[in-house]
Amino acid sequence: MYRSHTCGELRIADVNKEVALSGWVQTVRKFGSITFVDLRDRYGITQLLFSENLNAQLEANPLGREFVLQAKGKVNERSSKNANIPTGEVEIAVTEFTILNKSAVPPFSIQDDTDGGDELRMKYRFLDLRRNMVKKNLELRYAVGRSTRNYLHENNFMDIETPFLIKSTPEGARDFVVPSRMNPGQFYALPQSPQTFKQLLMVSGYDRYYQIVKCFRDEDLRADRQPEFTQIDCEMSFVEQEDILNMFEGLVKRIFKDVKHIDYTDVVQRMTWEEAMWNYGNDKPDIRFDIKIANLKFPQHTFPTNAASLNPSGGGVSEHPALESDFPVFKEAETVLAIAIPGCGEYTRKQTDELTEWVKRPQIGMKGLVFIKCNADGTFKSSVDKFYAPEKLKAIADAAHAKAGDLVLILAGAEEKTRKATSDLRMYMADKLGMRKNNEFKLLWVLDFPLFEYAEEDNRWVARHHPFTSPKPDHIEIMINNNPVIENAAAYLKHPYASIKANAYDMVLNGNEIGGGSIRIFQRNLQEKMFAALGMDEEEQQHKFGFLLGAFEYGAPPHGGLAFGFDRLCAILGGSESIRDFIAFPKNNSGRDVMLDAPSTIDAKQFEELQIKLDLK
Ligand code: AMO
Repeated sequence: MYRSHTCGELRIADVNKEVALSGWVQTVRKFGSITFVDLRDRYGITQLLFSENLNAQLEANPLGREFVLQAKGKVNERSSKNANIPTGEVEIAVTEFTILNKSAVPPFSIQDDTDGGDELRMKYRFLDLRRNMVKKNLELRYAVGRSTRNYLHENNFMDIETPFLIKSTPEGARDFVVPSRMNPGQFYALPQSPQTFKQLLMVSGYDRYYQIVKCFRDEDLRADRQPEFTQIDCEMSFVEQEDILNMFEGLVKRIFKDVKHIDYTDVVQRMTWEEAMWNYGNDKPDIRFDIKIANLKFPQHTFPTNAASLNPSGGGVSEHPALESDFPVFKEAETVLAIAIPGCGEYTRKQTDELTEWVKRPQIGMKGLVFIKCNADGTFKSSVDKFYAPEKLKAIADAAHAKAGDLVLILAGAEEKTRKATSDLRMYMADKLGMRKNNEFKLLWVLDFPLFEYAEEDNRWVARHHPFTSPKPDHIEIMINNNPVIENAAAYLKHPYASIKANAYDMVLNGNEIGGGSIRIFQRNLQEKMFAALGMDEEEQQHKFGFLLGAFEYGAPPHGGLAFGFDRLCAILGGSESIRDFIAFPKNNSGRDVMLDAPSTIDAKQFEELQIKLDLK
């Protein structure tokens, strides 16, 4: 028997028991004739006491960090207790010990505040995984998975596996491809998601499907993106959007409850994509704090609904009357947006200069920043005092919903860039002011996404979500009755297709897109129209998606679904923005597994069998 208890188990009630523990040596501390060892396993740490009579044996078999050790002895009450760990009231008076295996000196210390850098810890990931913090993250991941499976099982969902070796049909990200030895010159692709399979399962009658499944995308990586990641992938038949939103709000609330012990009783907020872009400049706004964008000037065709609410000043641009002046920056800009930052009205010159530098960084790319300080006495001080009289400044501050003591920040430039920059500035200020708390969670549905997105390189439409997403029923006509060809690339937003909205939705948690999905097209002719709108002729449609079009002829039910980014959800619940910390064996930002040293070249024999010759450019 290697152990009678784990290293996290013994308490004061166990005093006098004879026990055996096995684990890894965390620390060895010698005090005169006695030696203390902290023994660690997955469950915790227990202190071992080696007294004088074991010294000779210890000298002959010295212990080192990360040695695998078995110790037998009696549980004693500690004289100096450690209140920080659950086993801190006891220690084991060792009578016998065996070194089960030695360890080389680890390249970094295996403790919470380790001295190991990222790459080093990735290379020795099996050691990093021994660290408490990483272990906690994996435990959380396991708990999220368990809660998910329980909820979906209770709701009649069936877990069905789908293949990993499939056909390459890139749309969105690039595919990872796998050569086939038995079919020389031909390739499988790894799935970017099980999308078409889950739809086929609906055609087959498995009306509630789920899978916690790996997806593979060859795309540029960021903190919240890995080339292989995991989705909670779900699909349902005979449902409308509302059914899906309710079912999966339920899932996330259940996860909150099971994993974080949080009763999320708030109504999950909903907003349309247009509202999100209009108010937050972003399709995944963080709504934990209440700073909204004031749209002082914008091109009308971008927000036709909102344009009606301001005085149109002609030329397709709407402008707030308060903005009128000779100030050339605002005059020439397509878009002028403002945000009011609470309580920052007394920012010093140095602080406003720092913000100006921040918006000028290449990642943000703005030319400058205009500010208005709203003084407590009702007066205003701005960087554009020369152009705006106090009443005008007040009118702008009012439009931005600023109160006395606030700081109004204004950005001006091209629509898309300015909106994104304002959104980034909003987040930056919120971080600065501690308004984005890790332990506060706010869920949001963003609805009614555009069906299409304009791809400038090819001057064509691409599916914003994916090509199986259904247009809103009253927008189907716009798709059918208009030619997808974009004649005026500069004015693509005026093309009727730009106004088509989809029955598509994203779930947003604390400013992160944790899931997305849609109601699907389930009629062959509409699916063909959709493919055609994306520039696929009949032959290409048949070649890439013939199986799906064919299946739609055999009784496809109305259906829809969504997929959560499992790694992302875990990271946010764990209070981190980096999903790597929640994946046992992640890749680095160049998509490499530095532990395995993959990707790597393959043997000449493997190339031969595949009948592939490399001709690298
Ligand atoms: P989508 O592409 O929006 O939808 O993906 C769903 C969710 O997966 C997460 N995600 C990622 N997580 C880590 N690394 C990545 N590279 C990565 N890419 C996406 C995001 C995202 O919200 N088949 C559809 C779903 C559907 O329509 O049902 C799909 O894959 O959190």
